[in-house]
Amino acid sequence: MNSKQVIVSAVVGSLAMFFGGMAIHAKTAYAGAVAKDVIEMNNTAAFAKHKMGIVMFGHKKHFAAKPDGHGIACGECHHDKDHKALALKQGDAVQGCMECHKKAEKPKKGKGVSAADDAKLEREYYYGAIHENCIGCHKKAAAGPVKCAECHPKKATK
Ligand code: HEC
Ligand code: HEC
Ligand code: HEC
Ligand code: HEC
Repeated sequence: MNSKQVIVSAVVGSLAMFFGGMAIHAKTAYAGAVAKDVIEMNNTAAFAKHKMGIVMFGHKKHFAAKPDGHGIACGECHHDKDHKALALKQGDAVQGCMECHKKAEKPKKGKGVSAADDAKLEREYYYGAIHENCIGCHKKAAAGPVKCAECHPKKATK
């Protein structure tokens, strides 16, 4: 199989299994990239130091059609500045989450604010947005990991 092939198609799910790809470091902006199979979630702009093990996110596994993947539409995770779900196809430019969920490091719990307001404050941070996206769906769908160590592998001791 030619791993360099670039297929532009709206029916990405059924074709996704043919894409080759290697784990990459997550950057903040991606132009015309073919979506990677696995994304090494190591955002050094958001976190000066990762205290937890680096998450290896099975990107393709999430958007590939069932039964090989979880059959999740791109727009469940990728949206525009008005929070409108994006109908992406392979090769489209994608903005990193941090272009909008700009704040670095961890949010502090808002004191004396409602849970809804607190969630809004927290998702101004990349940390809050990414956790809400990943863990939020897993909880809602009652499928997928919600425990820390299921996403963050234990760090090798030096
Ligand atoms: C569904 C997967 C998932 C679960 C479950 C999860 N995280 Fe994360 N977490 C992530 C991702 C993805 C990032 C973003 C890392 C990046 O892009 O650099 C992250 C980032 C972090 C960071 C900031 C980076 C670092 O290593 O210091 C901390 C701290 C963190 N998580 C703690 C936790 C804790 C504590 C729990 C359990 C209460 C938890 N996470 C559960 C996926 C998860
Ligand atoms: C379950 C959530 C989720 C789904 C579904 C999803 N993505 Fe992503 N995608 C992400 C996350 C998280 C990143 C990393 C963003 C960052 O680093 O800020 C990313 C990064 C990307 C990137 C840049 C990095 C790379 O892989 O080259 C592209 C391009 C991309 N996605 C395209 C797509 C397309 C096209 C689809 C649908 C076929 C899709 N994504 C489906 C969550 C998702
Ligand atoms: C172009 C700007 C932009 C980008 C890029 C962006 N977001 Fe958002 N996001 C928004 C806006 C605007 C809202 C709605 C405001 C709010 O609720 O705080 C939002 C809301 C959210 C929410 C709460 C509602 C929901 O959908 O569950 C989550 C979680 C989220 N974003 C995660 C992400 C993740 C993960 C990425 C990267 C894959 C990302 N965002 C990329 C602008 C953006
Ligand atoms: C819209 C829903 C949704 C979002 C968003 C989502 N996931 Fe998942 N995730 C799932 C489902 C469904 C499964 C499959 C669970 C099963 O088969 O029991 C899954 C499974 C997983 C698994 C187990 C291995 C695998 O792929 O089957 C990991 C790890 C994981 N997700 C990490 C993440 C991370 C990290 C993010 C955010 C960057 C994320 N997920 C965002 C729905 C989602």
